Amino acid sequence: MILFVNACVRKESRTLRLAKKILNKFDDEIKEVQLEYIDFPVMDEEFINRREQLKSEGKYNDPIFKYALDFVKADMIVVAAPYYDFSFPAMLKQYLEQINILGLIFSYLETGEIKGLCKAKSLYYVTTAGGPIINDEFGFGYVKAFANVFCGIDKVYQIKAECLDIIGADVEKILKDTDVEVEKLR
Ligand SMILES: Cc1cc2nc3c(=O)[nH]c(=O)nc-3n(C[C@H](O)[C@H](O)[C@H](O)COP(=O)(O)O)c2cc1C
Repeated sequence: MILFVNACVRKESRTLRLAKKILNKFDDEIKEVQLEYIDFPVMDEEFINRREQLKSEGKYNDPIFKYALDFVKADMIVVAAPYYDFSFPAMLKQYLEQINILGLIFSYLETGEIKGLCKAKSLYYVTTAGGPIINDEFGFGYVKAFANVFCGIDKVYQIKAECLDIIGADVEKILKDTDVEVEKLR
């Protein structure tokens, strides 16, 4: 199963178009989580305590764990996130905050090291930007570290299209130019 984490919101989303080119390359079943329709709970003390309580009772069928369980079980993950404010939409951070559960996504070894518990071997991060992406570390870099360190997903790639909103930009050509990179994906 491919988990498609969709943080796109516009009907004409270029990021979504690019993500679909990647998804179409694979025959696997796709499970989409469309972030704009999720009413993420605030990670306050009450929420944290309730989740800890459910964990201690082994009640992993509670809806509180459903996004994390889908993430852990996926064979591959595709994240589509437009470039917002040097990074990605806040809802993607909310999603990662919700799924990053000790005992599900990762565990600690006796040495103190983090052991990722996710099945996926690869994650593709797809983004498009109005101007140039000033520093990949603020968006892709964060997701890459999350996937590498917490989830144990080694292969994390970015596919991006930049400068789409600059006056005179040939949007179709910029998007088409990503074909070469997409073709190489396995
Ligand atoms: C809320 C918001 C924040 C944005 N921030 C940036 C930014 O910091 N840098 C940039 O180059 N483009 C920025 N843009 C432009 C988008 O990155 C660009 O239009 C992108 O292609 C939108 O993706 P979409 O077509 O999938 O919606 C922003 C757009 C929005 C709506």
